This record gives sequence, structure tokens and C-alpha cells, in this order.
Amino acid sequence: MDGKIDILPIYFDTQKSYEDMEEKLPFHNWMHTKTFFECVCYLGALENIDADNLDLLKVAALYHDRGNEVTREGHEEESMKMAREELPEYGLTQEPIDAVARFIGSTKTPTDPQDILEMIMCDSDMAVLGMDYFPYVSELLRIELDVPQDEWIHDQIKFLKNHEYYTKSAKMLFDKQKRRNLDMLKSGEYLEIVESVFP
Ligand SMILES: [Fe+2]
Repeated sequence: MDGKIDILPIYFDTQKSYEDMEEKLPFHNWMHTKTFFECVCYLGALENIDADNLDLLKVAALYHDRGNEVTREGHEEESMKMAREELPEYGLTQEPIDAVARFIGSTKTPTDPQDILEMIMCDSDMAVLGMDYFPYVSELLRIELDVPQDEWIHDQIKFLKNHEYYTKSAKMLFDKQKRRNLDMLKSGEYLEIVESVFP
């Protein structure tokens, strides 16, 4: 790679773009991207990722959902296109841009990460399943996708049951709370929380 990437301007410029999407996308906005970015930072550190690759993961984190601005279906391709168009302005050359595009593409479902870097991307995208504020964020996604509540809870139970983190560090960090969130979904506690936060 040609020199170190200056993350800060990319961070603040993408923040601005996501904030503009806030009205339209209650979930796929800066909040989710910021969580993803932070997750990449600590999973990257725990998995001993070198500084150059960690920088590429950070850039991919910032761009991975930008495509939702244009389309939901196939948004990863749009995000990759935006990254390819915009990143030369921040001094990135072809090779790092190709890597960023590959990392963004690895978050497309069904996921099948090919190396530890892609695994970190996939785990960061699903970090929320193992967060204590899961009910709140999950409800924002339900609102965004406009799914009836009973159908949503049924599908979320199925999704959490089948989901597995790829990296050892994500398993250690998130599995315990993910199990709690699954129990909450099944017991009705999840719905109680959601209804108290979104009356
Ligand atoms: Fe995402």
C-alpha cells in the first residue's frame, strides 16, 4: 500500500452522508455504521490485525452501507461503486480500493467470509445481535423494513438461533448477550421493552 490512510476526513465525510439518510432509514444510518466501525476497531485489535489491513477495514466499515442511499436490494454493489468513485479523492490507490470493495462485498448475505478480515466485517455487521440494546435497534430495523411485529419476532427468533459469529473474539464478546436476547424474544420480554420504548 502507498502510505498510511488518513481515516479522519473519510470518517467525517461519510458521517455527514449517513446523517442525511436518517429520516429515510431509521436503522441503516450513522448509528449502525459507527457501531460497525467501533466493532472493526476492537475485533481487529483482538484478532491481531496489522495496522494497514485495519485501516482498510475501517474504510470498508464506513462505506459498507452507503449504497442504501440508492437501493436496498443490492446496496453492497452501490456501496462498492461509491467507494471506488470517492476513495481516490482521499489518496487511495487501486490496490487498497480493491481490498475495501472486497470487504464491503463480503457483508452480502448469505455471507461466506474467505479470511479473517472478511470474518471481522461479517461479525461487525451482526454485532448488534449480541448487544444489550438489541431490542431498541431491532425495532428500528423492523420499522425501516415495515414488517408486522409478530412476523418480525418469529423471524428474529429463527435468525438468532441460526446465527453464529465467525471470529473467536466476537463469540467471546457477543454470544452470551445474544443468548439473552434470544430468550427475551421467546419470553415476551423483548416485546415489553419495545412497547415501553416505542409506545
Ligand atoms: Fe450493515
